[in-house]
Amino acid sequence: MDSLKIQGGVPLIGEIAISGAKNAALPLLACGLMAGTGSLRLGNVPDLADTRLMKALVRHLGVEWSEDGEDIILSGEAQSYVAPYDLVSQMRASILVMGPLLARYGEAQVSLPGGCAIGTRPVDLHIRAMQKMGAIVELADGYVQARAPKGLSGAKIEFPLVSVGATENALMAACLAKGQTQLVNAAKEPEIIDLAACLVSMGAKIEGAGSDVITIEGVDSLHNGAHSVVPDRVEAGSYAIAAAMTGGALTLTNMHSSHLESLFEAMRQAGVSINTQENTAQISSDGRYQAVDIETQPHPGFPTDLQAQFMAMMCLAEGRSKISETIFENRFMHVPELMRMGADITIEGRTALVTGKASLLSAPVMATDLRASVCLVLAGLATKGETEVSRIYHLDRGYADLESKLGACGAKLVRVAN
Ligand code: UD1
Repeated sequence: MDSLKIQGGVPLIGEIAISGAKNAALPLLACGLMAGTGSLRLGNVPDLADTRLMKALVRHLGVEWSEDGEDIILSGEAQSYVAPYDLVSQMRASILVMGPLLARYGEAQVSLPGGCAIGTRPVDLHIRAMQKMGAIVELADGYVQARAPKGLSGAKIEFPLVSVGATENALMAACLAKGQTQLVNAAKEPEIIDLAACLVSMGAKIEGAGSDVITIEGVDSLHNGAHSVVPDRVEAGSYAIAAAMTGGALTLTNMHSSHLESLFEAMRQAGVSINTQENTAQISSDGRYQAVDIETQPHPGFPTDLQAQFMAMMCLAEGRSKISETIFENRFMHVPELMRMGADITIEGRTALVTGKASLLSAPVMATDLRASVCLVLAGLATKGETEVSRIYHLDRGYADLESKLGACGAKLVRVAN
């Protein structure tokens, strides 16, 4: 398994172009199942382990994809409605093929997913949304088996809690359901707006994406579409934190500053200098900043996908910060690893109390999930000496060209095959 050796303590200085968002690209690739006799052209798809896996899954289902320059073109009808365990178990977002398959072909058999080990992460909300639209769903042999032989019907679906994935599955399915669907308490993440824009380019009728009520008028079929994937706000946020922690100055380009308001607000409160334009942001710091409390919330609140990185930053802040995780029940797996680097962290239920220190100690550490991995990389970059982060296959799931992007800004890091 590969590891990353980091010689830390170097301020990062330079410019990083942000890639397309993993979390937007995954449902967009699943939309390829809905283009019917047409095709879907996607631009700015990041080359990541997870997007490769989603491409493999839609191809397994029968959709062809080809490349035209930087674009990916998905076309053709599904030949199978079964998303098998060996693919789905590698990535939880595979569940996103359920809505498209069910709406377009009246049948979907999707293995119950795996993915990051951050809590139990059930799929009951996805299933309930499909049932509300008239699907018959059974759980058998580790699979969600859903059928809608006469097609799906529009419905009012009220989510008891905000779920990004369940909103996406329901949104895609509702585009081809008969009549009107209303998604109430829908997720408002930028990735939802991106998905809706792509579906509209394919002929879907959607209003309200980005608010907590989305209204969809079902159409008989979708057609050719084209869409460019929204920039990755989590990648941008991770590099913004890297600039602050290393006492550097980074300019982030090809990003949407408005998607990171809650992070930037917390970083400004800490004393980090942040200048934003619509698609760029300059982050600089002398490496000294104050402790700030945060609580993760659905968008536009502080993103859970930046909680681990922000905690790494707070390990080096002046004072004590309180970091509360309200989205996932088991998303502090980076804490013991940060403590191996000398961090002072106490966990009380879903809250971590972090007392900042002047410096951390280099140590071999092990990544346990995607965002935990990058938080350890950030800690390593800010720490003098050599930090070896092992199991970095997690990083490859979500950060395109991480070594070359950071390396071009002065970071000293090298991948080692073990
Ligand atoms: C997506 C993101 C992930 C991010 C998360 C929250 C993708 C591919 N992944 O994950 O990076 O951390 O949003 O912003 O876009 N839940 C249920 N039942 C369900 C579905 C979810 O109880 O059927 C719960 C989850 O356990 C969690 C909460 O709802 O506690 C939010 O999860 P959700 O928004 O669905 O996360 P994902 O879509 O899986």
